[in-house]
Amino acid sequence: SKAPVRVAVTGAAGQIGYALLFRIASGEMLGKDQPVILQLLEIPDEKAQNALKGVIMELEDCAFPLLAGIEAHADPMTAFKDTDYALLVGARPRGPGMERADLLAANAQIFTAQGKALNAVASRNVKVLVVGNPANTNAYIAMKSAPDLPAKNFTAMLRLDHNRAASQLAAKTGTKVGDIRKLTVWGNHSPTMYADYRFATVNGESIKDKINDQVWNKDVFLPTVGKRGAAIIAARGLSSAASAANAAIDHMRDWALGSGGEWVTMGVPSNGEYGIPAGIVFGFPVTTANGEYKIVEGLEIDAFSQECIDKTLAELQGEQDGVKHLL
Ligand code: NAI
Repeated sequence: SKAPVRVAVTGAAGQIGYALLFRIASGEMLGKDQPVILQLLEIPDEKAQNALKGVIMELEDCAFPLLAGIEAHADPMTAFKDTDYALLVGARPRGPGMERADLLAANAQIFTAQGKALNAVASRNVKVLVVGNPANTNAYIAMKSAPDLPAKNFTAMLRLDHNRAASQLAAKTGTKVGDIRKLTVWGNHSPTMYADYRFATVNGESIKDKINDQVWNKDVFLPTVGKRGAAIIAARGLSSAASAANAAIDHMRDWALGSGGEWVTMGVPSNGEYGIPAGIVFGFPVTTANGEYKIVEGLEIDAFSQECIDKTLAELQGEQDGVKHLL
């Protein structure tokens, strides 16, 4: 049987953590033959550490055969020790009256410290997924704070946007979500993201041709996907958690085990593809195999798409300008 791998999860006592850890421990992320050791990080606060203890008790009570160990941590320098995978979920949410600059600064502090800790103690091949918002910029900060690790190993979660878009398209076309291929979401994980179905197919047929309605694309589809997070908060009183955890599982599973030639969306540092400046962590279509992702290149970008990509890029550049002095 395989040797266990180490999976660090931050914000482990939070909402997403509660929907995520049990699925990692049951083998849904890395395969039903891959034992895992969970290295869980929470803030040192007593309430958070107690909540984490409760989650660990429940993990024990599941008696997952693949769960080879569980650790509770209050310091990223111990939580990330030798870790093979790091899911950075914990982040500072925007409080009442908090300005955007304050939010960026609070998160810059968290992700600088966590990037440095990964740089110091994680496996040299650690695969990092940032879920905590602002996810792309937090991933960028962690990447910049970890100069000894490969930059390409720092990714941000756009998969929830991708899955939301797939679900809307299946509903619109009366098809099964699992039959949709070649969908992607460009840019920032924010309402400016550009969900792009120009290349998408369902059972080999073009989804764009099937829908054939640019007004629906612009006035219904894009706002629905972009504002879905807000719609869930309005309905549930809490932000998306189970669907976010599910997207994190999808992202890591495809990265680790391969997408079988299919496109998936990941936020990854650009190497200049599609004119996105190098280093910007941007949602791109990728394929994955052998533990590596590859950006799908050579896609035609029409005028409408370019406008959308420029808008989400400008927002990301604004965020990065806002944290530059903190790095
Ligand atoms: P939550 O507030 O329920 O849990 C967050 C947990 O992180 C808390 O237990 C908190 O104590 C912990 N935490 C905060 N700072 C930490 C630090 N420095 N180190 C370790 N732990 C820390 O929030 P929830 O609902 O679980 O969401 C987590 C994050 O994920 C939020 O930033 C949210 O905006 C983001 N999110 C991202 C999505 C995406 O698609 N990229 C989708 C949904 C949520």
